[in-house]
Amino acid sequence: MASSLSRLSTVLLVVVQSLQVYGSGVVNNGLSLSVNGKTYYVPSEARGHFSSCLRPPKPDELDSEFALISIFEATGPEFADADLDAAVDSSLSSDDVFTEAFLQGIYIRPSASALNLTVSPSTALGRYNTSFIHPLPAAFPNIPSGPYVLSLRTFNLHVPYLLYSDVQGAFHQGVVPGTDGSFKPLPASIAGSSSISVAVPSRLYYKPTADRPLAGVRLGIKDIYDIKGIKTSAGSRAYYDIYPEAGATAPFVQKLIDAGAVVVGKMKTTQFAAPENARDAIDYQAPFNPRGDGYQEVGSSSSGPGSGMASYGWLDLALGSDTGGSVRVPAENNGLFGNRPTHGLGDLTHVVPLAPQFDTPGFLARDPKLWSAACKVAYSNINTEYSRFPQKVLTIDLPTADQSDLSPADRIIAKFLQDLGEFLSAPVSNYNLASHWTSTRPAGSPADVQDLLSLTWAVISGQEQVRLVQEPLYRDYGAKYNGRRPFLNPSTRGAWEWANSLPPLVDEAVQNKTIFMDWWNQKVLPANAQSCSESLMFYSFKAPTAAYRNLPGETIGAPDLPGVLLGFNTGFASPMVGNPDFVVQLGEISYQSDITGQMEKMPISLRMMAATGCDGMLLDLVNELAEKKLIAPKVLPGNSFEGGPLYL
Ligand SMILES: *[C@@H]1O[C@H](CO)[C@@H](O)[C@H](O)[C@H]1NC(C)=O
Ligand SMILES: *[C@@H]1O[C@H](CO)[C@@H](O)[C@H](O)[C@H]1NC(C)=O
Ligand SMILES: *[C@@H]1O[C@H](CO)[C@@H](O)[C@H](O)[C@H]1NC(C)=O
Repeated sequence: MASSLSRLSTVLLVVVQSLQVYGSGVVNNGLSLSVNGKTYYVPSEARGHFSSCLRPPKPDELDSEFALISIFEATGPEFADADLDAAVDSSLSSDDVFTEAFLQGIYIRPSASALNLTVSPSTALGRYNTSFIHPLPAAFPNIPSGPYVLSLRTFNLHVPYLLYSDVQGAFHQGVVPGTDGSFKPLPASIAGSSSISVAVPSRLYYKPTADRPLAGVRLGIKDIYDIKGIKTSAGSRAYYDIYPEAGATAPFVQKLIDAGAVVVGKMKTTQFAAPENARDAIDYQAPFNPRGDGYQEVGSSSSGPGSGMASYGWLDLALGSDTGGSVRVPAENNGLFGNRPTHGLGDLTHVVPLAPQFDTPGFLARDPKLWSAACKVAYSNINTEYSRFPQKVLTIDLPTADQSDLSPADRIIAKFLQDLGEFLSAPVSNYNLASHWTSTRPAGSPADVQDLLSLTWAVISGQEQVRLVQEPLYRDYGAKYNGRRPFLNPSTRGAWEWANSLPPLVDEAVQNKTIFMDWWNQKVLPANAQSCSESLMFYSFKAPTAAYRNLPGETIGAPDLPGVLLGFNTGFASPMVGNPDFVVQLGEISYQSDITGQMEKMPISLRMMAATGCDGMLLDLVNELAEKKLIAPKVLPGNSFEGGPLYL
């Protein structure tokens, strides 16, 4: 017993609470444990209970209120020393929450009715300092295998959540499950960290199934989606202050949860999902982009999802939203896969709107397979009926392999387009939107597409958000604070003031949008019975040059109108049309960093579009391209696609 006692001393009980509510107004928030340098949050709610036959033989001698235990599964009728070693090794390699500290007690779940448990306690004691090892009765309630905290007073089992520091400032708040499908703010943090903490459960509890393909996927949610029990900030301190906890979870998020995803926190957004530079994020500091020198613009507006996915291996997937580029831009800046889906595929109730005509829910991902699985779960009616990929590739202002003196970034793009043309056996041709519009535009419309669309995105997003967000916010904030107005970040203030200065123009703007959409669906990216979309269209949006977050850089918006995106560019085509527009990563180039004084890596991406409703085909194509390594097959978190440190 001496050895297990001394090992218990490495388990520091920071806060010890019993599991009862002591009286009115007193809530037991659980406890926080430090175990060999890792910090865990252990909720007070029990996940299971051990009857007397399953209890440690002499709990008093464990000299602690808790034992850290593990449940393993037998794969055959016998469970021997080698099986224990294999179970420990595979747990260590597939999970960050489990450590050998959780081998104080071991429980083996039989695979058949009888279990021949041949690991002797003395062998386990010698190898893992295990105090007791028990078979679980076959009838034991089906709580998943993995690490648990066993109370030696109540013999209840509790789930340990491992805490991580959000050193990149990607999260607004960490959350853990509450009761009845609700969530509660994580009531623990890592002592000595200047960042908030985010809690994750063991990966060992989850196995994806056909019904729950996202089982155990750790998901971060942009803080415009409501989740029940948690306040939504939408990037505004005033908004967070005056509104209560959400009474319901957004149906789009609920679909992901029902498919097994584990929501670990709300992630930062620019204020009300506005286009915003890092320096203009006044209410909450903009998250950090880990790529390259760590001080490149993170991109708006799904800045938290972009930063978090590119920074943290402990996070698997993030949900953002795209109104005019809010998934696509952070995907490009942070070197991730990301999608603006076909408009209308996702239910956006209980989500803070920018403009319903443009708003879409999209993901930021490192792994195209998981990205595809999430999309197929989350979007309704995703069309997978096609028999071949499109036979035409259109490119907008992209380099081709036969041009000489290409820059390193252009070489990557030209090589990809050549490989793609060969893979699809499809011609790749340059497409000029402005001239195609002029020559084939509908009767009565202006010859210059700018004359039709230069105001359209700004008018719809501005005037719709004023109606849907500004008006109720001003009313409710004014009611609480004596008629005062809330603070607004520069982009939001600029966009709302501009929208308020105009007569109502939304109907006219929607008419213009519709004229363009109908033309596009007929002449540019029409549907096709075999390949869903007649063509694929590729374009580049992010310049392959450094954009430091600390420098003034370009104002987002028109020169004297911060936050007002005037002018039509290719990135606004998909919002106007509603067709899917995905970001894929091709590779990286090197640049000389003004911050680190060294050469650093910068991601090179392209956007790809197809006809409305062809999201399923695009996802399948991305996965084939990834498998054949024509694009980055997946990207790792860190300062480059190969992984690497976060420069803080
Ligand atoms: C359990 O396994 C051991 C070692 O393989 C074997 O010697 C023993 O007979 C088995 N006991 C039963 C009940 O099957
Ligand atoms: C087991 O306990 C001994 C003695 O306290 C200690 O030196 C050793 O590191 C422990 N082993 C493990 C695997 O924890
Ligand atoms: C709509 O298009 C017309 C040109 O056909 C243009 O004059 C007008 O400014 C546009 N309005 C908006 C709100 O986009």
